[in-house]
Amino acid sequence: MANPFFSLLLFLSLFPTPSLQSKPLPDLTSPYLSPSTIFPNFQKMLRTFKIFTYEPPKDFTFNTPAESLFYSSLLNGPFATQNPNEAHLFLVPFPSDLSTRSISRFIRDFRTEHPYWNRTLGADHFYISCAGLGYESDRNLVELKKNSVQISCFPTPHGKFIPHKDITLPPLNPSPLAPPQAPPNNRSSRYLGYFKSNGQVGLLNQLNGDPEFMIESEPSDELTYAERLEGSQFCLFLYGGDVSGIGEALRFGCVPAVITDCPIQDLPFMDVLVWSEIAVFVGRGGGAEELKGVLRRTCGDKYERMRALGVTASQHFVWNASPQSYDAFHTVLYQLWLRRHTIRYARREWS
Ligand SMILES: *[C@@H]1O[C@H](CO)[C@@H](O)[C@H](O)[C@H]1NC(C)=O
Ligand SMILES: *[C@@H]1O[C@H](CO)[C@@H](O)[C@H](O)[C@H]1NC(C)=O
Repeated sequence: MANPFFSLLLFLSLFPTPSLQSKPLPDLTSPYLSPSTIFPNFQKMLRTFKIFTYEPPKDFTFNTPAESLFYSSLLNGPFATQNPNEAHLFLVPFPSDLSTRSISRFIRDFRTEHPYWNRTLGADHFYISCAGLGYESDRNLVELKKNSVQISCFPTPHGKFIPHKDITLPPLNPSPLAPPQAPPNNRSSRYLGYFKSNGQVGLLNQLNGDPEFMIESEPSDELTYAERLEGSQFCLFLYGGDVSGIGEALRFGCVPAVITDCPIQDLPFMDVLVWSEIAVFVGRGGGAEELKGVLRRTCGDKYERMRALGVTASQHFVWNASPQSYDAFHTVLYQLWLRRHTIRYARREWS
């Protein structure tokens, strides 16, 4: 469990005022969990959010482009501060391949040199690690893993994600498609579902040859890929498989249909977006028939609304070399901003 004080405050900060107002139905014209607060809150973040980064180890690299881009955008942007006393949060930077012993030593060093770690036992600290941390009994690592916010890549390795505390980076597609030419209104869809398989098919094998579905390992070129996205009602993804195209599917108005055996807790922006308004989730158990049934029943106005909300939400999945408002970098930062409230303990000895 995370630090209980932290969890309580986190809970309060994730569900700000709208839940207290008498509004029984979600706002169906927006994909946001808190449509009335996200924009003013976001603007406030842009004006005031400050993050202090500890001196990183030398020759420092991350294993994935998403981790690297997030880190460099943070260090080179307006949110970085040299003054830890004005910081809301503290970044603990370490390379992807650093051993757990070295991470522990790193934390031990700055917990003795600076007062910040002991104030919250790491709860106002965060770290970037797509690999996640293993199970260790070392105190420094236990506090880092249980109290600090982990930023990792979606989807996370099994067991390496703590819901409501941790955050995932949306996939970074190294060669993104150019934005769609026309809005996705009134398109006539050739396919009910499109699946770019990359070798993994699972139950989707049963759909091979079905004229309502297009299943291929690679589209022949980018234009064809864009046409597939625009010409299909749903883009199919296997949770645990390749989900890197999910942002692009949203952007092109191809409603993601995620096939999964259990509820997914590590989706990007889970405390910003209402995922059930922009994607459908289908179990594997019912096989291809169940999948087709769910997709067919998601139709008409309901479908058009999902598609439109997905297009709106897609801006948050875009990675930019120079970050822009509401893009992937800023929306992850916004999730950190929502987690900035913590109890700061007076200094006391560890017993
Ligand atoms: C933080 O706590 C640890 C152990 O309780 C202690 O060794 C360390 O000196 C403390 N750090 C500071 C800056 O007081
Ligand atoms: C979509 O098509 C319907 C009927 O074909 C038409 O009434 C409606 O105006 C069209 N909407 C747009 C945005 O083109």
